[in-house]
Amino acid sequence: MANRYSKDPISLVVFGATGDLMARKIFPSLFYLYKEKKLPDGFRVIGVSRRDISEEGFREKIREAADKFDEIAKDKRLSGFLKLFYFVKGYFGDRYTYEDLKRVLEGHDHKIFFYLAVTPKFYKTVLENMKKGGLIHRNIFLLVEKPIGLDLKGAREVEKLLSKYFKEEQIYRVDHYLAKSGMDALFHFRFKKKYLEKIWSREFISGIELRLWEEKDVGTRGEFYESVGALRDVGQNHLLTMLAYATMDFRSRTSGEVVRKARAKLLRTLKIYNPRQTRHFAYRAQYKGYRKAKGVKRDSQIETFFRVLAFLGSGNFKGVPISIEAGKAMPENKKEMIVKFKDGINIIFPIETHSVKYQYVEEYKKILASAFAGDDSIFLGRNEVLAAWKFIDPIVLAFRKNLIPLRFYEPNTYPKASG
Ligand SMILES: NC(=O)c1ccc[n+]([C@@H]2O[C@H](COP(=O)([O-])OP(=O)(O)OC[C@H]3O[C@@H](n4cnc5c(N)ncnc54)[C@H](OP(=O)(O)O)[C@@H]3O)[C@@H](O)[C@H]2O)c1
Repeated sequence: MANRYSKDPISLVVFGATGDLMARKIFPSLFYLYKEKKLPDGFRVIGVSRRDISEEGFREKIREAADKFDEIAKDKRLSGFLKLFYFVKGYFGDRYTYEDLKRVLEGHDHKIFFYLAVTPKFYKTVLENMKKGGLIHRNIFLLVEKPIGLDLKGAREVEKLLSKYFKEEQIYRVDHYLAKSGMDALFHFRFKKKYLEKIWSREFISGIELRLWEEKDVGTRGEFYESVGALRDVGQNHLLTMLAYATMDFRSRTSGEVVRKARAKLLRTLKIYNPRQTRHFAYRAQYKGYRKAKGVKRDSQIETFFRVLAFLGSGNFKGVPISIEAGKAMPENKKEMIVKFKDGINIIFPIETHSVKYQYVEEYKKILASAFAGDDSIFLGRNEVLAAWKFIDPIVLAFRKNLIPLRFYEPNTYPKASG
């Protein structure tokens, strides 16, 4: 890992610091980095949100979040860790919020990471106000979560906004799949065992299957799920990233930029279907009972399962069928890639290789540590985000226009083609 920045003091500003992302993912991961002494001296977290609480109240809120992680709650280092947390109370649209934030950052502006843990509808307001408040300069970096847009047009708008204020190398677009240990293992398998590259092509491989199955149903996240569906939730990002790692071509991991460019180059070769063609290559289904979930329309047409057959138009895998599929209420939890060789041998790569004690913590630890160290290989680049949407858009359109009929499946069974 490059280590360009990690020795400098860092201030991490989290917009939306009293929200779920902070409580479940950012804070516990920071705690482990603290415990393992992987945070630089002078590291601080400045939370920003509208909630009427004091600095002590904010620390108390983080302490409450720690109760969900018995190991952290019991740890004596927790009180010392909480002293790293500061709070700025204010609305995102209010210029005084940014004036207060500037005051808190004064004298601590060596290296600042701004984490947008807010819904994308606030990005413009926050960035504009940061600019007006004099908070944007060359030593700042931005962490932003998926989804980047909900279609190609939306993604272009977000990208236009981000590039107005930041250079590409200042933006860390988070897709936690890239931080999964299985993805790292796949990456190293391909690029450390170069002799295998000789057989890693359409000459020897007849097909690739990528799947993300979740046993859990939509639970209480119905309202969110209605706005995306399975394809946009995990297909556009996680599965296409897996596809890129499985089939991209480059010789060495010389820098994050090389890796990002290689993924983008690969995704740009995806054969784009028009919505009418997609019915030959895509399938969608909804588990029975989904429409009864909280926040879900009674006549919802949203897919909770999809399968898409993708093809690359050039390169070593030109013409090889690559199936990507994901679903909720599946028979089991499964995150894997299967490479099928023409001689009948299949190699299975698990994408989640170990059972972690706390879901997401390992991944967000890696995300934060990599960003602080200036290693951008596990973050999405602008071009790969846009290439992925270009492939997904016509399929989403075909789903919405019902060109591909919605099938139904019993929860915790594999959807049948005719269901
Ligand atoms: N949660 C996850 O695991 C996760 C994973 C991937 C991506 N994301 C994305 O990350 C973003 C944040 O998600 P989340 O789950 O953390 O959301 P959330 O729980 O709803 O939290 C939203 C945060 O924004 C603050 N806020 C809302 N409106 C505000 C305003 N006008 N002025 C100031 N503060 C305001 C809230 O403050 P109050 O507490 O004071 O209301 C809260 O701190 C979303 O875009 C989501 O799609 C989340």
